[in-house]
Amino acid sequence: MYTDKSIFQLLKILSDGKIHTYKSLSASLGCTSLSLVKFLQDTFHQDIDINQIRGVGLCWQRPFEWINESVVRSYLSDQERNFNIVIFDLLDSTNSYLLRNKSYYLKDIRTPVVVAELQTRGRGTNNRSWFSDLGGCLTFSILWKFKRNIKYLSSLSLALGVSLIRAFKNISLDNIQLKWPNDIVHNKRKFAGILIECKTNRDGSVTAIIGIGVNLKLSSNIPHCLNYSATDLFQISGRMHSRNQILALLLSELRCVLESFGTDGFSIFRDEWESYHAYQGQSVVLHLSNQDNIEGIVDGVKNDGSLVLITSSGRQHYNIGEISLRTIV
Ligand code: BTN
Repeated sequence: MYTDKSIFQLLKILSDGKIHTYKSLSASLGCTSLSLVKFLQDTFHQDIDINQIRGVGLCWQRPFEWINESVVRSYLSDQERNFNIVIFDLLDSTNSYLLRNKSYYLKDIRTPVVVAELQTRGRGTNNRSWFSDLGGCLTFSILWKFKRNIKYLSSLSLALGVSLIRAFKNISLDNIQLKWPNDIVHNKRKFAGILIECKTNRDGSVTAIIGIGVNLKLSSNIPHCLNYSATDLFQISGRMHSRNQILALLLSELRCVLESFGTDGFSIFRDEWESYHAYQGQSVVLHLSNQDNIEGIVDGVKNDGSLVLITSSGRQHYNIGEISLRTIV
């Protein structure tokens, strides 16, 4: 049986875009490369564009850009020393990995960053799955330690939403917005999300595992599996961005916002957050987990991250739920 390791080995050999003979591939892989391609397509259900040149070999004409630590570091320039970057081909989930290995990474004075080329059990908010495909997404998590009490972190996800918008502005994506609490959207379609999982340490400090998923260019079959209305950076900007560059931009902005949030809290980000909110001043329905729906007009957010709605019973704030535009019938 083929292993994930041999699949990634094959893909990495083919990543140079050159023709590789069946003979040389079989010698490197210890199995036939043609059957590996079939296995790859069946396993990952995706259209990786590998050309089979009859009687000659294989060629991957448009390979994706792998995450490469030295390339990420070159984009980070003088900030690179702040990060410990660990890259996996395959993981269940970068958040789960950091949660399992929290005590090891807590000792690191740099910010631990775990990246997976592919996650098999990616997790989203509200116990949902987070689907991503090989080469078409960015999936990573970082670990950050806060000296403050966990209650103080209720607005962390909103502050991090601001950092993502700032990062994307660096590649001239200006028409992107936030959806409360922290989805990153374009024309109300989501292309990036944040999952924060916190644990209180014995000394009262809090470790936050912050997972980020960004859709760069989803394969055509992925949107059908998603539980949200999705888009990707390729559709938004019409071009394929460097995965390494985007990762570096996100890491710099995340670190900068985490440092300010740790000292000053969310209040310094609040106006900026509201200016990015796709639903600001709009008539929405807030869907609560107990099936209740609340109608109101969005009037910003509070410093604790809760959403302010002008409802028929006055100005109310909510710290949980999902919003959608209210359709007037
Ligand atoms: C959301 O539902 O909006 C949050 C999505 C977060 C997905 C990322 S991908 C990297 C990290 N690992 C996970 O399992 N989830 C997060």
